[in-house]
Amino acid sequence: MKVGQIKKIAVVGAGLMGHSIAQAFAQEGFPVNVTDAFESALAVAKDSIRSNLVTLVEEKFMSESELEQTLGRIAIVKDLAQAVRDADFVTEAIFEDLEAKQNIFKEMERFCAPDTILASNTSSFRMTDISSLMTRPERAITTHWFNPPHLVPLVEIVLGEKTSEETCQTAQDFLVKIKKVPVRVRKEIPGFLINRIQAAMNREVYSLSEMGIASAEDIDLAVVASLGFRLASLGPLRIRDLAGLGVTCKVEGELLKEINSSTEAPKILRDKVTRGELGTKTGKGFFEYTPESVEAIIKKRDRQFIRRLKELYRS
Ligand SMILES: NC(=O)c1ccc[n+]([C@@H]2O[C@H](COP(=O)([O-])OP(=O)(O)OC[C@H]3O[C@@H](n4cnc5c(N)ncnc54)[C@H](O)[C@@H]3O)[C@@H](O)[C@H]2O)c1
Repeated sequence: MKVGQIKKIAVVGAGLMGHSIAQAFAQEGFPVNVTDAFESALAVAKDSIRSNLVTLVEEKFMSESELEQTLGRIAIVKDLAQAVRDADFVTEAIFEDLEAKQNIFKEMERFCAPDTILASNTSSFRMTDISSLMTRPERAITTHWFNPPHLVPLVEIVLGEKTSEETCQTAQDFLVKIKKVPVRVRKEIPGFLINRIQAAMNREVYSLSEMGIASAEDIDLAVVASLGFRLASLGPLRIRDLAGLGVTCKVEGELLKEINSSTEAPKILRDKVTRGELGTKTGKGFFEYTPESVEAIIKKRDRQFIRRLKELYRS
């Protein structure tokens, strides 16, 4: 399969990630079948896509007529076989469960053409394992998107042991075609690139919070107004080159002795989970929420992401 042959898309699993991944394909002109094991999830997905698109119109990222055209390209399909049958590129975004993913890849293979590319949005499993029941694992690949997928540019690409170079090249070309930023991860390691980097930073963030070094509000404010501000434009390695590697070597050499190096889920997180404080979902996490405040935070986040996307990636 070459990139020019990709005409039709299917997305399997229409939850938080799947609905927005489907939208990303449809926004760039591709017809997309969206399917899910639960009909209720499909109804929510449709409403969520419309609501995401309204924010894009409000921010003048697209016109009203482009919104309608995008919606018109998305078909809600209840049956898996029907959803994937004529797709050239399928993205799976079902629950993070290895057995479920293995089974769905095996099933999708039965229904699709032999050269359809089958991609997984898995956060933690190796494609080598997901594709272990397939007869043609060379067309299976991990494409790992970031929430919200229709706005965050990066998609990590990870090959399984049997994924072909052609599958990788086509997936990469296709993601560029729909204006994403694909980055190839050279080894199938847990967490790929970004979740590892994020976990390393978060370990210290939880530890600082647990030690009471600053309030939760101030930790977030400090990170957004420094690391966040810089990292929107420059990568961490470039930032170090600009700072000077001599001073970096000295400072980090001292600090690494001091900062948290635990290999367990931190107590502050375990305690919150035990108390049922799971974040916005339950109204309390590091901060407290009402349904209205969650909606306002997501709207503000999306508006700022759209402006950043326009300025940094679409100008
Ligand atoms: N949430 C994130 O920020 C994030 C980021 C990157 C990757 N991921 C990965 O994306 C995938 C989906 O995560 P999510 O957060 O969207 O989960 P989610 O629970 O919001 O959505 C999963 C959807 O899959 C559906 N589903 C489950 N089994 C199915 C099946 N057999 N056939 C069809 N549909 C099925 C569910 O009904 C649900 O709607 C997971 O593999 C997750 O690890 C999540």
